[in-house]
Amino acid sequence: MHFKRLLNRFETEFVNVSFSTNYMKKIGVFTSGGDAPGMNACVRAVVRGAIYNGLEVVGIQYGYEGMIEGRFVDLQARSVSNIIQRGGTILRTARSEQFRTPEGRARAAGNLKDADIDGLVAIGGDGTFQGATRLAEEHNVAIIGVPGTIDNDLFGTDYTIGYDTAVNTAVEAIDKIRDTAASHDRLFYVEVMGRDSGFIALDVGITSGSEHIAVPETQTNISELEEALAGSKRHKSSAIIIVAEGEESGGALSLAERIKDAAGYDYRICVLGHIQRGGTPTARDRLLASRLGVAAVDALLEGQSGVMVGEIHGKISFTPLKETWTKRKSIDKDLWRLASILST
Ligand code: F6P
Repeated sequence: MHFKRLLNRFETEFVNVSFSTNYMKKIGVFTSGGDAPGMNACVRAVVRGAIYNGLEVVGIQYGYEGMIEGRFVDLQARSVSNIIQRGGTILRTARSEQFRTPEGRARAAGNLKDADIDGLVAIGGDGTFQGATRLAEEHNVAIIGVPGTIDNDLFGTDYTIGYDTAVNTAVEAIDKIRDTAASHDRLFYVEVMGRDSGFIALDVGITSGSEHIAVPETQTNISELEEALAGSKRHKSSAIIIVAEGEESGGALSLAERIKDAAGYDYRICVLGHIQRGGTPTARDRLLASRLGVAAVDALLEGQSGVMVGEIHGKISFTPLKETWTKRKSIDKDLWRLASILST
């Protein structure tokens, strides 16, 4: 047999097999940080993907906080019935201060060992992956991240689970605000979520037909905005400005205070807030969650660790966990241009 074919055969029959049936017997899954619609669909995918591969699955409640306190529950295929359509997370979530300390992480790692958990799937955002990076580095825990945050601000994936739902929720709300703005000839400052990023604001601004958008990635030029508003006022009886929560003025209220006279508009402020975090996940979020959840289990079985599974140009991708929060995903300049063309 030709050497190359022999090598291929060796790799397929021995190398892959030995990796794919590695030591994994039991895995843990948890959600952490801010909840996001579609997290439940992802938990379901992880549980069923694991069981399909003959693994046992443990759900860790309240994220890293529960890991420190040993809040572990066995999960079966039926434990995740009827949750694909539900917002929130059945595993609960938390932002853990204790886990930021080396002692907290050591306790968590000890509890994982005692429970015979060989690998973890962490569903969350940048804070979750900072914790996951440390857990993997300090305690050699096999861990795969899945991007679950409405903010869509993680490097290494085009979309995060929950983002599509959050954008749709905000747009639905703004369509309603538009009715009352038009009826009263008013300007509305609408604040959407996004602590450090303007992904939600930009997509929402374009798809709700808003007049102006202010995001943390670009410095808002107040005099330019005042001029643009004055321009709107000349031919539009009402207008909407979308303001990302993390915009450098400090959100919609602070931005409104900086704009003199609001170009003569009678104005109101509306902060959409946590309404964007709840609700039934869209089909797109459910699909992404299902795909990434199963891919995370496959990755653990292949012996991967310390990476986030994402989707880039429709294909499954892997990015070192550290890069997901140290590198910055930039907003799409073409979309920014589109917003300014269409808002005239
Ligand atoms: O990270 C998701 C997010 O919704 C941010 O957009 C927002 O700033 C933050 O969480 C709010 O967190 P909390 O629910 O803890 O107030």
